[in-house]
Amino acid sequence: MKKNIYPFEKMELGYNLNEMTPYIEKEIMDLHYNKHYNGYIVALNAIVEKLSKAQSMTATELIENVESFPKNSQKDILFNAGGIVNHELFLSNIAPPNGKVSENAEVMKLRDEFSACAKKLQGSGWVAIVSYATELRVISFANHETLPCDCGKVVLMIDVWEHAYYLQYKNDRAKFVDEFFSIINWEEVNKRIDAKNCNCCKS
Ligand SMILES: [Fe+2]
Repeated sequence: MKKNIYPFEKMELGYNLNEMTPYIEKEIMDLHYNKHYNGYIVALNAIVEKLSKAQSMTATELIENVESFPKNSQKDILFNAGGIVNHELFLSNIAPPNGKVSENAEVMKLRDEFSACAKKLQGSGWVAIVSYATELRVISFANHETLPCDCGKVVLMIDVWEHAYYLQYKNDRAKFVDEFFSIINWEEVNKRIDAKNCNCCKS
């Protein structure tokens, strides 16, 4: 069972790394999960190991309370905890393609806006559809920025760092973004929309 506090561990995936083909090749999934995502976990554990107060906090709590930690560790906490939070949202909102059309109409209304935002985002970052009390909104995040605690819930997130697609799609990020819609875990997306609590307030 994955621990949500120090020492952080990789989340278990509900699929095998080769099951996203042909949309994301196994080599990319393997590097993404075992090297990039794992790298943020290893780095965050190394930081938190030296900060006893931080050892009972989740990655989200570390981000929210970052100012209570020494100044020289704040940037690294934000980067690595943000990397964990965003990767876990992304890795759990994709699923092997199964040919079924099971789309959430509310989310699909924002598909064009979401895709355009992901295609034009400059540099490394993320694009998400975020659920607020009365509406869904498309929001982009640079580097490893995360959704602030403003009672929104990330319901669908795409990683548009080059490590997420470059080995397969080269500089054609647009194709990767289009193909992303073939591997969405709609069950998870619907569950997030229906959840009562926002991302930051859930335990
Ligand atoms: Fe990534």
